[in-house]
Amino acid sequence: MEKRQELYKGKAKSVFTTDDANVYVMLYRNDTSAFDGKKVEQLDRKGMVNNKFNAFIMQKLEAAGIETHFIKLLNDTESLVKKLEMIPLECVVRNISAGSICKRLGVAEGQDLSPPTFEFFLKNDALGDPMVNEYHIRSFGWATPEQVEKMKELTFKVNGVLKQLFLDGGMLLVDYKLEFGVYDGRVILGDEFSPDGCRLWDKDTRKKLDKDRFRQGLGGVVESYEEVGHRLGVKFD
Ligand code: TMP
Ligand code: ASP
Repeated sequence: MEKRQELYKGKAKSVFTTDDANVYVMLYRNDTSAFDGKKVEQLDRKGMVNNKFNAFIMQKLEAAGIETHFIKLLNDTESLVKKLEMIPLECVVRNISAGSICKRLGVAEGQDLSPPTFEFFLKNDALGDPMVNEYHIRSFGWATPEQVEKMKELTFKVNGVLKQLFLDGGMLLVDYKLEFGVYDGRVILGDEFSPDGCRLWDKDTRKKLDKDRFRQGLGGVVESYEEVGHRLGVKFD
Protein backbone atom coordinates (compact mmCIF):
# COMPACT_ATOMS: atom_id res chain seq x y z
CA MET A 1 0.00 0.00 0.00
CA GLU A 2 1.39 3.38 -1.00
CA LYS A 3 0.30 6.61 0.71
CA ARG A 4 -0.49 9.39 -1.77
CA GLN A 5 -1.84 12.92 -1.35
CA GLU A 6 -3.61 14.56 1.58
CA LEU A 7 -7.30 14.60 0.77
CA TYR A 8 -8.66 16.29 3.86
CA LYS A 9 -7.23 17.96 6.96
CA GLY A 10 -9.57 18.02 9.95
CA LYS A 11 -8.90 19.63 13.32
CA ALA A 12 -7.06 16.61 14.75
CA LYS A 13 -6.70 14.10 11.90
CA SER A 14 -5.72 14.10 8.24
CA VAL A 15 -6.89 11.69 5.56
CA PHE A 16 -4.67 10.54 2.69
CA THR A 17 -5.51 8.64 -0.48
CA THR A 18 -3.57 5.47 -1.30
CA ASP A 19 -2.89 3.42 -4.42
CA ASP A 20 -6.07 1.49 -3.53
CA ALA A 21 -9.13 3.62 -4.41
CA ASN A 22 -11.17 1.99 -1.61
CA VAL A 23 -8.66 2.57 1.18
CA TYR A 24 -7.44 5.71 2.99
CA VAL A 25 -4.72 6.41 5.54
CA MET A 26 -5.88 8.29 8.63
CA LEU A 27 -3.17 10.30 10.41
CA TYR A 28 -3.74 11.24 14.05
CA ARG A 29 -2.00 14.56 14.74
CA ASN A 30 -1.10 16.10 18.11
CA ASP A 31 -3.42 19.04 17.41
CA THR A 32 -6.11 19.28 20.05
CA SER A 33 -9.08 21.50 19.46
CA ALA A 34 -12.15 22.54 21.38
CA PHE A 35 -15.05 24.92 21.01
CA ASP A 36 -15.25 24.32 17.25
CA GLY A 37 -11.60 25.08 16.72
CA LYS A 38 -11.49 28.27 18.83
CA LYS A 39 -9.01 26.67 21.28
CA VAL A 40 -6.18 24.72 19.62
CA GLU A 41 -2.96 23.33 21.13
CA GLN A 42 -0.35 20.72 20.29
CA LEU A 43 -0.23 18.01 22.94
CA ASP A 44 2.81 15.76 22.82
CA ARG A 45 2.01 12.04 22.18
CA LYS A 46 -1.73 12.68 21.70
CA GLY A 47 -1.77 11.49 18.06
CA MET A 48 -0.12 8.20 18.99
CA VAL A 49 -2.32 7.68 22.04
CA ASN A 50 -5.58 8.31 20.16
CA ASN A 51 -4.51 6.20 17.17
CA LYS A 52 -3.81 3.19 19.38
CA PHE A 53 -6.80 3.81 21.63
CA ASN A 54 -9.10 4.01 18.61
CA ALA A 55 -7.67 0.80 17.14
CA PHE A 56 -8.39 -1.01 20.41
CA ILE A 57 -11.99 0.25 20.59
CA MET A 58 -12.75 -0.38 16.90
CA GLN A 59 -11.55 -3.97 17.29
CA LYS A 60 -13.80 -4.44 20.34
CA LEU A 61 -16.75 -3.08 18.36
CA GLU A 62 -16.00 -5.33 15.37
CA ALA A 63 -15.82 -8.30 17.74
CA ALA A 64 -19.30 -7.33 18.98
CA GLY A 65 -20.62 -7.38 15.40
CA ILE A 66 -20.51 -3.62 14.69
CA GLU A 67 -18.97 -2.92 11.30
CA THR A 68 -16.36 -0.12 11.27
CA HIS A 69 -14.05 1.49 8.72
CA PHE A 70 -10.94 0.42 10.66
CA ILE A 71 -8.66 -2.01 8.82
CA LYS A 72 -5.37 -2.00 10.74
CA LEU A 73 -2.74 0.06 12.53
CA LEU A 74 0.09 1.11 10.20
CA ASN A 75 2.41 2.76 12.73
CA ASP A 76 2.25 4.93 15.88
CA THR A 77 0.11 7.67 14.37
CA GLU A 78 -1.49 6.17 11.25
CA SER A 79 -4.22 3.63 10.56
CA LEU A 80 -5.59 2.15 7.37
CA VAL A 81 -9.35 2.63 6.93
CA LYS A 82 -12.03 1.86 4.37
CA LYS A 83 -13.10 4.79 2.21
CA LEU A 84 -16.57 5.89 3.31
CA GLU A 85 -19.04 8.39 1.88
CA MET A 86 -19.40 10.35 5.12
CA ILE A 87 -22.84 11.39 6.40
CA PRO A 88 -22.45 15.02 7.67
CA LEU A 89 -23.99 14.32 11.08
CA GLU A 90 -22.71 13.66 14.59
CA CYS A 91 -24.61 11.11 16.67
CA VAL A 92 -24.43 11.74 20.42
CA VAL A 93 -25.66 9.41 23.16
CA ARG A 94 -25.72 10.67 26.74
CA ASN A 95 -25.87 8.34 29.73
CA ILE A 96 -25.24 11.12 32.26
CA SER A 97 -25.94 14.85 31.83
CA ALA A 98 -22.85 16.97 31.03
CA GLY A 99 -21.64 19.52 28.52
CA SER A 100 -23.95 21.27 26.07
CA ILE A 101 -27.16 19.62 27.27
CA CYS A 102 -26.70 21.23 30.71
CA LYS A 103 -26.36 24.70 29.20
CA ARG A 104 -29.11 24.18 26.63
CA LEU A 105 -31.72 22.75 29.01
CA GLY A 106 -30.55 24.29 32.27
CA VAL A 107 -30.12 20.88 33.90
CA ALA A 108 -27.48 19.97 36.50
CA GLU A 109 -24.38 18.01 35.51
CA GLY A 110 -24.16 14.41 36.69
CA GLN A 111 -27.77 13.20 36.46
CA ASP A 112 -28.27 9.62 35.29
CA LEU A 113 -30.33 9.69 32.11
CA SER A 114 -32.76 6.83 31.92
CA PRO A 115 -33.23 5.98 29.16
CA PRO A 116 -30.00 7.40 27.69
CA THR A 117 -30.77 10.28 25.36
CA PHE A 118 -29.80 10.72 21.71
CA GLU A 119 -29.08 13.86 19.69
CA PHE A 120 -28.07 14.62 16.11
CA PHE A 121 -25.75 17.54 15.31
CA LEU A 122 -24.91 18.91 11.89
CA LYS A 123 -21.17 18.73 11.23
CA ASN A 124 -20.46 22.38 10.50
CA ASP A 125 -17.82 24.23 12.52
CA ALA A 126 -18.74 27.64 11.09
CA LEU A 127 -22.22 27.20 12.57
CA GLY A 128 -20.92 25.60 15.81
CA ASP A 129 -22.34 22.14 14.98
CA PRO A 130 -26.01 22.99 15.55
CA MET A 131 -28.39 20.35 16.88
CA VAL A 132 -30.79 19.14 14.18
CA ASN A 133 -33.83 16.88 14.23
CA GLU A 134 -34.90 14.03 11.96
CA TYR A 135 -37.16 16.33 9.92
CA HIS A 136 -34.21 18.64 9.17
CA ILE A 137 -32.15 15.63 8.15
CA ARG A 138 -34.87 14.39 5.83
CA SER A 139 -35.86 17.79 4.37
CA PHE A 140 -32.28 18.76 3.56
CA GLY A 141 -31.32 15.27 2.41
CA TRP A 142 -28.38 14.81 4.80
CA ALA A 143 -29.40 11.17 5.28
CA THR A 144 -32.31 8.92 4.33
CA PRO A 145 -34.84 7.76 6.95
CA GLU A 146 -33.32 4.26 6.72
CA GLN A 147 -29.84 5.65 7.36
CA VAL A 148 -31.17 7.65 10.33
CA GLU A 149 -32.66 4.50 11.85
CA LYS A 150 -29.44 2.57 11.26
CA MET A 151 -27.28 5.31 12.84
CA LYS A 152 -29.48 5.35 15.96
CA GLU A 153 -29.50 1.55 16.18
CA LEU A 154 -25.71 1.32 15.81
CA THR A 155 -25.01 4.21 18.19
CA PHE A 156 -27.06 2.53 20.93
CA LYS A 157 -25.46 -0.83 20.16
CA VAL A 158 -22.05 0.82 20.69
CA ASN A 159 -23.38 2.11 24.04
CA GLY A 160 -24.16 -1.41 25.19
CA VAL A 161 -20.65 -2.61 24.38
CA LEU A 162 -18.65 0.39 25.59
CA LYS A 163 -20.55 1.26 28.76
CA GLN A 164 -19.65 -2.19 30.11
CA LEU A 165 -16.08 -2.08 28.78
CA PHE A 166 -15.39 1.21 30.57
CA LEU A 167 -17.23 0.10 33.70
CA ASP A 168 -14.95 -2.93 33.87
CA GLY A 169 -12.07 -0.40 33.95
CA GLY A 170 -13.73 1.57 36.76
CA MET A 171 -15.08 4.33 34.50
CA LEU A 172 -18.44 5.82 33.57
CA LEU A 173 -19.13 6.47 29.90
CA VAL A 174 -20.95 9.79 30.31
CA ASP A 175 -21.51 10.60 26.62
CA TYR A 176 -19.86 10.20 23.21
CA LYS A 177 -20.07 11.25 19.59
CA LEU A 178 -19.99 8.93 16.60
CA GLU A 179 -19.87 9.59 12.86
CA PHE A 180 -21.03 7.21 10.18
CA GLY A 181 -20.51 6.78 6.44
CA VAL A 182 -21.73 4.58 3.64
CA TYR A 183 -19.59 1.70 2.39
CA ASP A 184 -20.87 -0.62 -0.32
CA GLY A 185 -24.42 0.64 0.40
CA ARG A 186 -24.16 -0.07 4.15
CA VAL A 187 -24.01 2.46 7.00
CA ILE A 188 -20.85 1.70 8.99
CA LEU A 189 -18.94 3.43 11.78
CA GLY A 190 -16.28 5.93 10.68
CA ASP A 191 -14.13 8.66 12.26
CA GLU A 192 -12.67 7.69 15.66
CA PHE A 193 -13.52 6.71 19.20
CA SER A 194 -11.06 8.21 21.66
CA PRO A 195 -11.15 10.39 24.79
CA ASP A 196 -11.26 13.37 22.38
CA GLY A 197 -14.87 12.53 21.47
CA CYS A 198 -16.41 11.19 24.64
CA ARG A 199 -16.71 11.94 28.35
CA LEU A 200 -15.31 9.46 30.85
CA TRP A 201 -15.39 9.85 34.60
CA ASP A 202 -13.76 7.73 37.26
CA LYS A 203 -16.60 5.62 38.66
CA ASP A 204 -15.90 6.42 42.32
CA THR A 205 -14.42 9.93 42.35
CA ARG A 206 -16.10 11.18 39.12
CA LYS A 207 -12.73 12.71 38.14
CA LYS A 208 -12.86 13.80 34.48
CA LEU A 209 -10.53 11.68 32.33
CA ASP A 210 -11.43 12.97 28.83
CA LYS A 211 -11.12 16.09 26.66
CA ASP A 212 -12.97 18.16 29.26
CA ARG A 213 -9.52 18.31 30.93
CA PHE A 214 -8.41 20.32 27.88
CA ARG A 215 -11.65 22.29 27.45
CA GLN A 216 -11.64 23.31 31.13
CA GLY A 217 -7.85 23.78 31.42
CA LEU A 218 -7.53 21.05 34.08
CA GLY A 219 -4.13 19.81 32.79
CA GLY A 220 -2.75 16.29 32.46
CA VAL A 221 -4.75 15.71 29.28
CA VAL A 222 -2.66 13.08 27.49
CA GLU A 223 -1.62 11.47 30.80
CA SER A 224 -5.30 11.02 31.52
CA TYR A 225 -6.00 9.49 28.08
CA GLU A 226 -3.14 7.06 28.73
CA GLU A 227 -4.56 6.18 32.13
CA VAL A 228 -7.91 5.39 30.50
CA GLY A 229 -6.10 3.20 27.98
CA HIS A 230 -4.09 1.39 30.66
CA ARG A 231 -7.26 0.65 32.63
CA LEU A 232 -8.68 -1.05 29.51
CA GLY A 233 -5.47 -2.87 28.63
CA VAL A 234 -4.48 -0.75 25.61
CA LYS A 235 -0.75 -1.09 24.78
CA PHE A 236 0.87 2.23 23.85
CA ASP A 237 4.45 1.01 23.28
P1 TMP B 1 -21.52 18.27 23.91
O1 TMP B 1 -21.89 18.11 25.35
O2 TMP B 1 -20.56 19.37 23.65
O3 TMP B 1 -22.76 18.38 23.03
O4 TMP B 1 -20.77 16.94 23.45
C1 TMP B 1 -21.33 15.67 23.67
C2 TMP B 1 -20.25 14.61 23.41
O5 TMP B 1 -19.92 14.57 22.04
C3 TMP B 1 -18.96 14.89 24.16
O6 TMP B 1 -18.42 13.65 24.58
C4 TMP B 1 -18.06 15.51 23.12
C5 TMP B 1 -18.55 14.92 21.84
N1 TMP B 1 -18.48 15.86 20.72
C6 TMP B 1 -17.37 15.86 19.90
O7 TMP B 1 -16.45 15.07 20.10
N2 TMP B 1 -17.30 16.74 18.87
C7 TMP B 1 -18.29 17.61 18.60
O8 TMP B 1 -18.17 18.38 17.65
C8 TMP B 1 -19.46 17.60 19.45
C9 TMP B 1 -20.61 18.54 19.21
C10 TMP B 1 -19.50 16.72 20.50
N1 ASP C 1 -14.14 18.66 18.54
C1 ASP C 1 -14.78 19.95 18.52
C2 ASP C 1 -13.75 21.05 18.40
O1 ASP C 1 -12.69 20.97 18.24
C3 ASP C 1 -15.71 20.17 19.66
C4 ASP C 1 -15.16 19.91 21.04
O2 ASP C 1 -14.65 18.85 21.27
O3 ASP C 1 -15.30 20.76 21.93
O4 ASP C 1 -13.89 22.15 18.43
